[in-house]
Amino acid sequence: MAGSGWDGVTVIDHPLVQHKLSLMRDRNTSTLDFRRLLREISMLLCYEATRDLELTTATIETPLTTMEAPVLAGKKLVFASILRAGNGLLEGMLDLVPAARVAHIGLYRDPKTLVAVEYYFKAPDDLHERRVIVLDPMLATGNSSVAAVDRLKERGASDLRFVCLLAAPEGIERMRAGHPDVPIVTAAVDERLDSHGYIVPGLGDAGDRMFGTK
Ligand code: URA
Repeated sequence: MAGSGWDGVTVIDHPLVQHKLSLMRDRNTSTLDFRRLLREISMLLCYEATRDLELTTATIETPLTTMEAPVLAGKKLVFASILRAGNGLLEGMLDLVPAARVAHIGLYRDPKTLVAVEYYFKAPDDLHERRVIVLDPMLATGNSSVAAVDRLKERGASDLRFVCLLAAPEGIERMRAGHPDVPIVTAAVDERLDSHGYIVPGLGDAGDRMFGTK
């Protein structure tokens, strides 16, 4: 794990994460491999995003004796997937925390204005009692991320994290300005956005690459 020079942003500089990310960036990587790598890398990102979950102890019997063993305490998790690309991160996260609840937030970027337009929202009722980990592989303009966190907060969420694969400086600035209380976990901070709102050097359209739609 490394600081990033940005307040509230953690860049996961683990060699496995960086290697898998480079494979995903390569335009010659197939849909099959892209999806597999995304699932693997999301487990590693989840590991980092849950690093500060509270522990308590429970009394258990090992084959040899009784012990006070550490177990998760406190708030239960919700993974909030920003459709559709967020679902690529979701699978690996659920591999690690299978009991987590899941929220889905449908947002698309208006191709002209790049503004986030909502078309679907479904989340557990008790968001105020849970830690919410918001998932979107690409933090680009930040419009979708800010809109998703707005909606989750309106529905009661107050303990949130944002996990992405790649972040652009523009998206980080927008998220930090809009939601300074929401820490960001990412595998890399890239150079910039292009005029269409794509991250450069980036990896292209994450949804298209994971679902093979282009
Ligand atoms: N969404 C993507 O899928 N890729 C980008 O580069 C930016 C937003």
